[in-house]
Amino acid sequence: MTRKSFICGNWKMNATHLDAIQMVQKLSYRLETADYERVDVVVAPPFTSLRSVQTVIEADHLAIELAAQNVHWEQSGAYTGEVSPPMLAKLGVGYVIVGHSERRQMFGETDETVNKKVKAVLAADMVPIMALGETLEEREEGVTEQRVGSQLVNGLAGLTPDQAVGVIIAYEPIWAIGTGRTAEPDDAASVIGFLRRTFGDTFGGELAEHVRIIYGGSMNPGNVAALMAKKDIDGGLVGGASLDPDQFASVVRYWV
Ligand code: PGA
Repeated sequence: MTRKSFICGNWKMNATHLDAIQMVQKLSYRLETADYERVDVVVAPPFTSLRSVQTVIEADHLAIELAAQNVHWEQSGAYTGEVSPPMLAKLGVGYVIVGHSERRQMFGETDETVNKKVKAVLAADMVPIMALGETLEEREEGVTEQRVGSQLVNGLAGLTPDQAVGVIIAYEPIWAIGTGRTAEPDDAASVIGFLRRTFGDTFGGELAEHVRIIYGGSMNPGNVAALMAKKDIDGGLVGGASLDPDQFASVVRYWV
């Protein structure tokens, strides 16, 4: 089974809309048609930059795709400060990161709200990038699989197998995010293999071979090739290294 590689730059709370325009233009100069054939190349700017980046993508006919970093599960209403799935879909957003550990830790997201968001994103014909991962404490206690397994099952609860296989799962060990401390490729592959088997237990072994599961946590040009060499790792969610178009392009072109 070949699964197309998927690499998404998560810009987090960085870049004004003017910075964002420059970043996506620079990125596009560094990539070639063959790169997009091999990898789905996605950037996730802050909400305030989505429209500007989308305009550049459209005007220059770029194959770079757009992701949002968060969403609310309702369609509209009295939810001050929130943004709904139809608003994003209308902007040409194709993917939405859901349940990033920063949102779980700092903004009170739970498996239950993650599940609502996953369903709302699918209902708006976008693809959820559902993030999950263990803390350092959980890893040291030896409960990594228990933790990520329950995040996976709860996050995908109530989905049909056809819906579930369209979700991109991002395994991001929390201790590796923004720390420069990447998981060893063998360790990342072992957890991702476990996630694939757990997915298979719920939705069937055949679909488990199709679902894309990516790694995130200090991925950079220096470690991407070793991570991508693992057959179970289908791509990356890249934070820090995605803010520099040169570095991000090198991550996208991991085989070069
Ligand atoms: P990082 O962030 O690459 O800076 O570790 C990854 C993420 O949080 O998605």
